[in-house]
Amino acid sequence: MSLKDRLSELLNQGLEDLKSTSEQDELNELRVHLLGKKGPITKVLRGMKDLSPEERPVVGSFANEVRDRLQEAIDARKEEIDQKLLTVKLEKEKIDVTLPGKPAARGNAHVIQQIIDQIEDLFLGMGYQVLSGPEVEEDRYNFEMMNLPKDHPARDMQDTFYITKDILMRTQTSPMQARTMEKHDFSKGPLKMISPGVVYRRDTDDPTHSHQFHQVEGLVIDKHVTMADLKGTLELVAHELFGDRFDVRLRPSYFPFTEPSVEADITCFNCGGKGCAVCKHTGWIEVLGAGMVHPNVLKMAGVDSDIYGGFAFGLGPDRFAMLKYGVDDIRNFYLDDERFLNQFSMKG
Ligand code: DAH
Repeated sequence: MSLKDRLSELLNQGLEDLKSTSEQDELNELRVHLLGKKGPITKVLRGMKDLSPEERPVVGSFANEVRDRLQEAIDARKEEIDQKLLTVKLEKEKIDVTLPGKPAARGNAHVIQQIIDQIEDLFLGMGYQVLSGPEVEEDRYNFEMMNLPKDHPARDMQDTFYITKDILMRTQTSPMQARTMEKHDFSKGPLKMISPGVVYRRDTDDPTHSHQFHQVEGLVIDKHVTMADLKGTLELVAHELFGDRFDVRLRPSYFPFTEPSVEADITCFNCGGKGCAVCKHTGWIEVLGAGMVHPNVLKMAGVDSDIYGGFAFGLGPDRFAMLKYGVDDIRNFYLDDERFLNQFSMKG
């Protein structure tokens, strides 16, 4: 058989064999066999040395053509196999977009956070800043600059977790008063801020005590701020959180950082002021501490107390939530029990 015939035969055989390949490995093997150095075509080409000089270029170019055609056929086959694999894969991974979806579980803000959000919205609307401060605080801010020097008996009102002699877990958000006053540039206008956050006390947990709870501090410092401004502001808070029929009453009290100091009561939510067991038959419920900022506190924060003054208040969102929703155990807020928390879902 002439070399040319042999090449034709190899081509036909190769094309035939290609048709039956169905996987990439198989195809690769066949390619190496047909076109590789040890393959039949190379072998045929080796025999060319015995050909006459006229025949050599003819057979040579035919051999190249055979190689090219085989290579093309291999490439085409590879493409076909790829396509087939892709189709199978797509078929296997097909998504049925008509299947009904599983509803994703949606959480909601913690009930205390909901109260804080409401308070923030109210005060933001009145041009207050909302600030947060460190929970690990210096004794200096938490007590000293709040007019509670070391050994002051009123420190006993707040049992404290100390970290070192001078560093503690803040027992109140009041240190934010000192922190903001000392930074404020009064030539640019009054200071109006609230500061919500968590505070800590070395209390034994029981239905009305938690070693961790929330406070929202409020502070307004300007020229000519009066107690009437304080009362009006607290009335707005009561109306916003509880409703318009709630009144506020101020009673004299004592806090080291305010003078005069007051405790604010609101109309008993349970009896509407008529008197019941919840309000101990007074018609009022105590909700927060407040007062006019003590001149010492102003001075220690570098504020001229002859020109500037103002009011401060500290309210407890936990207590607000307990009153508003009739929760009788503060610990519920910190136990992460979904059966409790889901009752305050905002999903409507
Ligand atoms: N810091 C006080 C407390 O934890 C609450 C308080 C009372 C804050 C009177 C004030 C205030 O700003 O004027 O018991």
